[in-house]
Amino acid sequence: MHEYPSASEAAAACSGRLLELLRHAVAQRGTATLAVSGGSTPMLLFQEMVNSDFPWDNLRLFFVDERCVPPDDDQSNYRLAREHFLKVVGFPDSHVVRVKGELPPENGAKEYVAAIRESFELAVGGLPIFDVVQLGLGPDGHTASLFPGGEWGGDRTGIAAAVWVEKMGNYRVTLLPGVLLAARARLFLVAGEDKKAALEAVLHGPVNVDEYPAQIVARDDIEVEWFVGQV
Ligand code: 6PG
Repeated sequence: MHEYPSASEAAAACSGRLLELLRHAVAQRGTATLAVSGGSTPMLLFQEMVNSDFPWDNLRLFFVDERCVPPDDDQSNYRLAREHFLKVVGFPDSHVVRVKGELPPENGAKEYVAAIRESFELAVGGLPIFDVVQLGLGPDGHTASLFPGGEWGGDRTGIAAAVWVEKMGNYRVTLLPGVLLAARARLFLVAGEDKKAALEAVLHGPVNVDEYPAQIVARDDIEVEWFVGQV
C-alpha cells in the first residue's frame, strides 16, 4: 500500500513501478504486455509515463475495459490513452489491441477475445498472462467493468465479455476476473475523496465480492500493489 497526499504523486509513483515491472518483462522475455483502465485517473498516469525513455516498441497495450462507444467518443478509454499517451510517445498502432467499441457489444467482446488470443498465441481455453494490469476503483467498489451485482464476478475461465452497466446506462467490454488474477502484477491507482469509503470496505470490510467486485482481486491471495492519492 503506497499512500500519497495527492493524486498526481500517486500517479507518478504508480508510473514508476509500472515501468519498472515492464522493463523487467522486456529484459526477461524481450517484450511486455500491459492492460490499462479508463475513467479519469489514468490520464494522470499517462502524463507521467510519457516522460520516460521506455522502449515503447517492446510493449503491447491492451485495455482492462472499454465503453461501447466509437474510438473518438469522449467516453472512450482508448481515446483517453491515445490523446494522453499513444500520440505523445508515437506508440506503434500495431502494438495497440483496442476494444472496437463502435461494434455491437457482443461483437466487440468477441473480436477483443479473438485479438487477445491471437496476440498471446493462446491454446484453447487458455488465459492471457499480462505482465501488468493497471486497475482503478470506483466509488461503488467496482473495478474494470465488474460492477456490484454483475454476472461475471464468479467467472474464472473467460477472457472478456460485454456487460450492461445499469448505472452508466451503457454497455462495456471488460476483462474478466480470471485474467485479472492471472496477471504477473496488478497495480491499483486510486485517487479522489469519493473513493475513501469504497477503499476501506474493499480492503478491510467483510469479504463480499458481489457488493465490492474489487475484492475479487484485492482480497484474493495474490499480490496487489495500491497507489492511493488524496483519499
Ligand atoms: C472505466 C474504468 C473504471 C475505473 C473506475 C475508476 O472504464 O471507467 O475502467 O473501472 O477504473 O471507474 O475510475 P477513476 O479512476 O477515473 O475514478
